[in-house]
Amino acid sequence: MSRTPLVIIGAGGFGREVHDVVEAVNDDLGTHAGFDVIGFLDDTACTDDLVSDRGLSVLGPAHRLEDLPGDVQYVIGIGSGAVRRGIDVRASAGGRVAAQLVHPAAVLGRHRVTLAPGSIVCASAVITTNVRLGRHVHVNIGATVGHDAVLENYVTLNPNVSVSGGAVLGEAVSMGTGSSVLQYRRVGAGTTVGAGAVVARDLPADVVAVGVPARVREA
Ligand SMILES: CC(C)(COP(=O)(O)OP(=O)(O)OC[C@H]1O[C@@H](n2cnc3c(N)ncnc32)[C@H](O)[C@@H]1OP(=O)(O)O)[C@@H](O)C(=O)NCCC(=O)NCCS
Repeated sequence: MSRTPLVIIGAGGFGREVHDVVEAVNDDLGTHAGFDVIGFLDDTACTDDLVSDRGLSVLGPAHRLEDLPGDVQYVIGIGSGAVRRGIDVRASAGGRVAAQLVHPAAVLGRHRVTLAPGSIVCASAVITTNVRLGRHVHVNIGATVGHDAVLENYVTLNPNVSVSGGAVLGEAVSMGTGSSVLQYRRVGAGTTVGAGAVVARDLPADVVAVGVPARVREA
């Protein structure tokens, strides 16, 4: 079985952490043949020095994905769910396939845990049972997701987020570092939950909420 050629979109902090996940996956192969990372794509200039120690380079801006050979899969190492959505919609329209990455030191339940293409699960994350992750969802280091939770497309869990059982996070919700969602609460699409906040009541779409309990911040 040959390795899957892969490009990482985003050479910033999380993009490089995503490359670390790929390396860990390649070091711990089961039935998967692993990935052959061909480089990064990034819209900001002069980022080669950030990745040259990895023996890789920045091949160009994100839209260059379209010029790469058709068998090259992609993952998006960019923290903004809205940005990931824009890239993914364009890439999918062009027939490009997104890869999935699960760090070998993450723990995923064996029963009805489904990850859509593009999802990335980092080291020390735990996802228990009957959980659904949409496209390009990021579950960062140490985040936990309880039973029956749903994370729609482009949701971002920053490090050490806790999503309790039955919670539903709408499209492109961003959960700040160390924040929590209590059981069966719902967070509307596009909402940002600040670092350390506790979502004790449902939150509407497209707001910023901070604090314990999380309150919508006035614009
Ligand atoms: C909530 C958040 C999105 C607000 O961002 P912002 O609009 O740029 O906010 P600012 O830094 O301008 O701060 C505005 C006010 O909110 C307060 N504030 C910011 N973040 C807060 C938080 N998480 N909890 C409570 N108050 C917060 C600030 O102290 C400031 O208060 P002040 O006006 O009384 O001084 C952001 O602070 C946050 O928590 N982001 C998550 C970051 C994260 O998890 N990163 C992960 C990287 S791996």
